[in-house]
Amino acid sequence: MKKNGFIFDLDGVIVDTAKYHYLAWKNLANKLGFEFTEEQNELFKGVSRKRCLEILLQIGGVTATQKQFDHWMGEKNKEYLQYIENMDASEILSDVPKVLHFLKEKNIQMAVGSASKNARPILEKVGLISYFKTIIDGNNVTKAKPDPEVFLLAAQELGVRPQECVVFEDAVAGIQAAKNASMTSIGIGDAKILAEANYNFRDFTEISLDFLNAVIYE
Ligand code: BG6
Ligand code: MG
Repeated sequence: MKKNGFIFDLDGVIVDTAKYHYLAWKNLANKLGFEFTEEQNELFKGVSRKRCLEILLQIGGVTATQKQFDHWMGEKNKEYLQYIENMDASEILSDVPKVLHFLKEKNIQMAVGSASKNARPILEKVGLISYFKTIIDGNNVTKAKPDPEVFLLAAQELGVRPQECVVFEDAVAGIQAAKNASMTSIGIGDAKILAEANYNFRDFTEISLDFLNAVIYE
């Protein structure tokens, strides 16, 4: 079936913001008196801010009042916002514009499907927002990945059926969400971690235009 819609996750797919999320969570963990490793951070990819804090506190064995919980969630986001404040096009991951440009030339509809509530300002800062017909983010969804809601909403806004959609994802939860939405998934990152994806690439520099053509018309 021809693929008429391509949906991109944001953090770790379009821009290298996963490192900023990690740094902000790590600093919060250190402040609370425990370590938070990059390996543990894999669990945070594609996961909402609230859920991330719940997991972080579990890792550290910390119990929190609602007031503390809200305060720490705010602190993390405040630090993250400082990291992304001066973001510009230099932080777009390699060869992402090549792929966006190619798909646009082919009249393929494109969307962003992200768990982040900061998706829009980031896309504006790096100058890519005009490529996307719709942006579905943490402000629009009630159910987090691996629930398919975010991608199904994106497909609906694009006016294409889920089976006609291809999803780029760097998170295990995101690949599962694509699968749960009956969409084709392309894992960006470690193929061992993203083994459930239909296709795997380390990054966009490995994705050829021939491959994209083949996926569109497969
Ligand atoms: C996802 C990230 O895209 O967005 C997660 O992979 C992050 O790590 C989530 O927790 C929520 O982001 P934000 O910007 O709303 O805190
Ligand atoms: Mg991601």
